[in-house]
Amino acid sequence: MFAVRLAKQLSRPVQRTAARKVSSTPARKSDALFVHRDTSYNNPKIHFEFNAENLKRAQEIIARYPPQYKKAAVIPLLDLGQRQNKGWTSISVMNYVANLLEMPPMRVYEVATFYTMFNREPIGEHFVQVCTTTPCMLRGAYDILDTVCKDLGGIKPGETTKDGKFTVIEVECQGACSNAPMLVVGDDFYEDLTPQLTTKILDAFKKGERPKPGPQSGRHTSENSAGLTALTEKPYGPGEHCTPEFQ
Ligand code: FES
Repeated sequence: MFAVRLAKQLSRPVQRTAARKVSSTPARKSDALFVHRDTSYNNPKIHFEFNAENLKRAQEIIARYPPQYKKAAVIPLLDLGQRQNKGWTSISVMNYVANLLEMPPMRVYEVATFYTMFNREPIGEHFVQVCTTTPCMLRGAYDILDTVCKDLGGIKPGETTKDGKFTVIEVECQGACSNAPMLVVGDDFYEDLTPQLTTKILDAFKKGERPKPGPQSGRHTSENSAGLTALTEKPYGPGEHCTPEFQ
């Protein structure tokens, strides 16, 4: 019996296991948005915690939500962490926020990787974001972007100057289209730009100054730059629109 079974086994064709291939595809650039790989400057062993002021602020934010929904505070807390961590959201910031909100860290990573406003790599002291969406693009946004890159020593969007002072990126609409073209430095909007005005703004930052944000064309906000062209008459008061028979 044993001899028969052995003979059958030996007569079967040998099944070869498929060789497991190791992918040699280079890392895609978009990986940077979603993938974390430990580095010397960004790994979970680097300690992070809110300073006393931010911890107080975080507690105030958390108190706005019912205790069982405190995870709703994840975005403002990540923002607070990013600000404290010199403008970028490290893995330690994310883990700290997860711990504070008693959330699985993965849920926090999902938020931080979804919103591009969370910088997951270190940035320069001045974070320059140039809007190139259609309204800005039609009014010369690429001239502005080229000027910024040239004035910052020939860096490209996504890069930081060697002295660590400036990082420039290209961004989508910042909601200031009526004052296009525009760029953002830190939290400040600089609008109605020309290449010359852009250079002036960057020069001021290089000198350690903070130029006045807002429209650079002299207008106050987003009023018509050609002056008042409609509703030029004195507005009528209450009741003045009524015809005499109804007065
Ligand atoms: S398109 Fe640039 S601010 Fe809207």
